[in-house]
Amino acid sequence: MEFVKVARTSDLHDHRGKLVRVNEEEIALWRVNGKIYAINNICPHQHFSMLHQGTLDGMYVTCPMHGWSFSLEDGRAKSGNGRGRTYRVKVEGEDVMIEKPTSMW
Ligand code: FES
Repeated sequence: MEFVKVARTSDLHDHRGKLVRVNEEEIALWRVNGKIYAINNICPHQHFSMLHQGTLDGMYVTCPMHGWSFSLEDGRAKSGNGRGRTYRVKVEGEDVMIEKPTSMW
């Protein structure tokens, strides 16, 4: 599995999303209690690219558009339907890396 660097650990803050781009994909990074998660920024509902601006409820990010929420761990919907796409994350020193995304749509 190929990983690509997308950020530095110092770029991330607990409970605040950060938008990064890899190729044509927008990815929302979230740090929760020191651990970093990556989910495709496009909400499965109406495909607005907004999950980096969502709010956190435990391990779920809630889309600011209509309130659907998705697990940062596996993308499953807590409210609404569908499933967000999540990515494996690894940290090497200061580098935050995610598995290289392939086109989703
Ligand atoms: S676009 Fe995200 S909840 Fe509607």
